[in-house]
Amino acid sequence: MQINKPILDAVIQQMNAGEKAAMLTCYDATFAKLMELAGIDILLVGDSLGMVLQGADNTLNVSMHHMTYHTKSVAAGAPNTLIIADMPIGSYEHDNEAAYKNAEWLIRSGAHMVKFEGGGTKVDTARYLVEHGIPVCAHLGFTPQSVNQLGGYKIQGKTDESAAQILQDATDMANAGASFILLEMVPAALAKTITETISAPTIGIGAGVDCNGQVLVLQDLLGIYNGPANKNPNEFKSPRFVHNFLKDTDSIQEAVSAYIQAVKDQSFPAKEHSY
Ligand code: KIV
Repeated sequence: MQINKPILDAVIQQMNAGEKAAMLTCYDATFAKLMELAGIDILLVGDSLGMVLQGADNTLNVSMHHMTYHTKSVAAGAPNTLIIADMPIGSYEHDNEAAYKNAEWLIRSGAHMVKFEGGGTKVDTARYLVEHGIPVCAHLGFTPQSVNQLGGYKIQGKTDESAAQILQDATDMANAGASFILLEMVPAALAKTITETISAPTIGIGAGVDCNGQVLVLQDLLGIYNGPANKNPNEFKSPRFVHNFLKDTDSIQEAVSAYIQAVKDQSFPAKEHSY
């Protein structure tokens, strides 16, 4: 299987040299091209497309067909940018061979790396994929595919016990060969400890400024996501970590550039975006 290693190695080198990586979600070629031109470091074809594009409450109805379709579109628009594609629910949890086949399908569709949620038993899956040549990003903390088990959109790692578990999972994933550890909605102090402890770079969303990179959903950055399709937009409240970069700029291109700049100079996320 063909992975474009130089694209991946360049971003890892930049993070190891202390430069923060700016990542945004992307689901189509037009935005992919715009963001590549603006200088984004990483594009994430997230299964958040279930909410953002399909109007659902959560990511639980996203399929491999959806993910490969959107990955191809993003790869067409941004041929020179590192692309990470999410493995949707049901595509990696059951056995490593099936996980490999699905991950390989995403890579053939244009991704350079796959992301999946959870630690524990998923560490073995990460090791298997890495040993078979597929770069992996582990998603820990709040894991949207487990929204029902977690009792809603809640910050994770608040107790000593759960913080220790997230640190352990991050360490195990890094030792299994994961290229990045994405931390969602965890206390900034915990994300800092993890970033300082493990060998892999961290990417945060609602995880404070000390991660090695940051990610946001593009439609959140533009201030245009206002909840599931069938719900009243006036009742929707954006999570604390969201910032509308479009409101102080004149174009989408400028908003994306402002986000990249704010990640690099560490003015985003500020304290008010963190837990
Ligand atoms: O699916 C997604 O967009 C994500 C981000 C929220 C990190 O996983």
